[in-house]
Amino acid sequence: MRILIKNGTIITASDHYRGDLLIEDEIVTTIGTVLIGSADRVIDASDRYVFPGGIDVHTHLDMPFGGTTSADDFETGTVAAAFGGTTSIVDFAIQYKGQTLHHAWETWMKKAEGKAAIDYGFHMIITELSDQVEQEMDALVTQGVTSFKLFMAYPGVFMLDDASIFRALLRTGQNGGTICMHAENGGVIDVLVKKALGEGKTAPKYHALTRPARAEAEATHRAIALAEMADVPIYIVHLSAAEALEMVTAARDRGLPAFAETCPQYLFLSYDNYEESGFEGAKYVMSPPLRPRETHERLWRGLAFNDLQAISTDHCPFCMKEQKELGRGDFSKIPNGAPGIETRMSLVYDGGVRTGRIGLSRFVELTSTSPAKIFGLYPRKGTLAPGSDADLVIFNPHRKTTISARTHHMRVDYNPYEGREVAGVSETVISRGRIIIDNGKFVGRAGAGSFIKRSPRTI
Ligand code: URP
Ligand code: ZN
Ligand code: ZN
Repeated sequence: MRILIKNGTIITASDHYRGDLLIEDEIVTTIGTVLIGSADRVIDASDRYVFPGGIDVHTHLDMPFGGTTSADDFETGTVAAAFGGTTSIVDFAIQYKGQTLHHAWETWMKKAEGKAAIDYGFHMIITELSDQVEQEMDALVTQGVTSFKLFMAYPGVFMLDDASIFRALLRTGQNGGTICMHAENGGVIDVLVKKALGEGKTAPKYHALTRPARAEAEATHRAIALAEMADVPIYIVHLSAAEALEMVTAARDRGLPAFAETCPQYLFLSYDNYEESGFEGAKYVMSPPLRPRETHERLWRGLAFNDLQAISTDHCPFCMKEQKELGRGDFSKIPNGAPGIETRMSLVYDGGVRTGRIGLSRFVELTSTSPAKIFGLYPRKGTLAPGSDADLVIFNPHRKTTISARTHHMRVDYNPYEGREVAGVSETVISRGRIIIDNGKFVGRAGAGSFIKRSPRTI
């Protein structure tokens, strides 16, 4: 199958130019100013950008959490991702206590097989570390699961102590894996939660008020200090607070390999959302929580100046009905997480590029290239070059759309950005040479996505 994309403006993390691009089977084979020749399908991309497919390195599909399971499975979640211009995800497999990492990996592979419409990889969440688990970490790195998420929050569920964190960091120094850290001080938060509930403070907003920015900053600082002592890089996930960003910036200024992502919710939503009437604030219960509105510009600056290297979604959807409702009368029982896998590219284009906060190449870098480099997918994915996977998006920057739960494809009964108008729509999306979104219509297939064996760290 040959697909020729003509007259587009091709954007990579380093270049923009008008050109044509030829896909043969799964691969981009030729890029040129004007390509002539036969093709099974010719797509006119005039007045449109041609971006590398979006890479979302933080999703939770079909994940048991908070007494329920995230509402999107690998079919509905990856179809929604495709609509939004994302062609690869890295999801999280969870090692529950007493289980091996390989058992967790097999469990999550089964969840994805036959369902995923786009390519997928896995990070491994480690909740218990032993000598055997450390050996398994080595094996997983060789098998393409090259990153591990550790938690400094959720005591008794996911949280690891500093000694275990340090051992895991040291291990990645030998095996080439990367530690991803959920950086919030879980002990402090637990005390604040119990105190609030004891005082009868049960509304959703207390989720945010019991998870202070300083608890995130302290854990971010500690995580980076532990990584420095282990002499390995570290990647902070879902960074939300300006105070935590200061820790990453200070570390990077000292030359440390500290990396961090933020997510659209921390760039567009704020603490004010928790003050919405009734139980509406539950829509935004996630950890870390939304921060004051003034944080937005601090995070955008971090993104522009490379103190933050990636924008992922932390897509972890729970319906208001029957799921978020579990926490009516007790905010600590509201399942943590929110949907976003479908809206990332349009939101970041609209709020970042259209407004002039970041340029087009930086947009590509943050949503595709840099996550691909950090997580061992580059140069197969994350760029448009001869020989790279034909994962790409034909993006119309002039078309506007209004985000709504009535029209989105995520299997969740609300959208945190309901009614927001954004400029920039992923019109046609190609995954390894297969058109999966054709002018706004899904024409892909559940199960067509493949497991991506990722390379060990090069950072
Ligand atoms: O609230 C969140 N972020 N839910 C997903 C789990 C996590 O910590 O990433
Ligand atoms: Zn987390
Ligand atoms: Zn997450």
